[in-house]
Amino acid sequence: MILTLANQKGGVGKTTLSINLAHAIALSEKRVLLVDADPQASASTWAAARETPSPFPVIGMARNTLHRDLLPLLENYDHCIIDSPPRVSALSKSAILASDLVLIPVQPSSYDVWAAAETVQLIEEAQQFKPEIKALFCINRKVVNTAIGQEIEAALADYPFQIIKSTVGQRIAFAESSAGYSVFELAPASTAAKEIKALSQEILKLLGVEAW
Ligand SMILES: Nc1ncnc2c1ncn2[C@@H]1O[C@H](COP(=O)(O)OP(=O)(O)OP(=O)(O)O)[C@@H](O)[C@H]1O
Ligand SMILES: [Mg+2]
Repeated sequence: MILTLANQKGGVGKTTLSINLAHAIALSEKRVLLVDADPQASASTWAAARETPSPFPVIGMARNTLHRDLLPLLENYDHCIIDSPPRVSALSKSAILASDLVLIPVQPSSYDVWAAAETVQLIEEAQQFKPEIKALFCINRKVVNTAIGQEIEAALADYPFQIIKSTVGQRIAFAESSAGYSVFELAPASTAAKEIKALSQEILKLLGVEAW
C-alpha cells in the first residue's frame, strides 16, 4: 500500500506520524519505504540524526513527478509511506496521486478544521484522475476529556471524508522521537506506541492488507 500523510497546513504531525507509522509497519516484518517528499527534509534529517541504522530506508523525493518516479522503486517493498510538505501544493498533489490512502492529520482546533479545506480540494482534484484514492482525517494531539475534541469531529463532518477511528493523543514521547528515534525505540510500552500500532492496524485492515 502507498500511504501519504498530507495537510497543506504546517506542523500538524505529518512527519511525526509518517516516521512512527513506518516503524510500526516495519516491526511486522514488512519492508517499508519512507519517502520524504518535503523540501524541508524533516524525515531525512530524522534518519541522519540516528546513531544506528534506521529500521526502514528513508529516501528524499521532493519532486512534482513523484507519482511516476516512485513506482519502479516500490518493487522491493511491501508498503510505502510518503511524508508530504505543507504549502507546496504541486508536490502534495503528486504525492496524493501516488497514494492508495491519504491520511490528513488535524489537530483539535478550529484553525485546523478551516485550513483543511485546501487539502480536501487537492485530494478531490487528484481523485478526478484516480478515483480509487481514499482519504481520511486523523485526529492528532487529542487531549482527553475536552469538549473541543467532539466539536472538531462534528466540524469535520462537513467535509466529504470521514475520520479514522484511531486517534493519537498529545504525548511527550512524540516530541522526543523527533531527534532520530521512533516511539517504539524510545518508549515501546507507552500510550504513544500503542496508539500508533492501533492506527497502523486500522489502516492496513481498511485497505485489506494483512495486519499484525
Ligand atoms: N501527538 C503529538 N504529541 C506531541 N507532540 C506532537 C504530536 N504530533 C506532533 N507533535 C510535535 O509537533 C511538532 C510538529 O510535528 P511535525 O513536524 O510532525 O508536523 P508536520 O505536519 O510534519 O510539520 P510540517 O508541515 O512543517 O512538515 C513537532 O515538534 C512534533 O514533535
Ligand atoms: Mg513535516
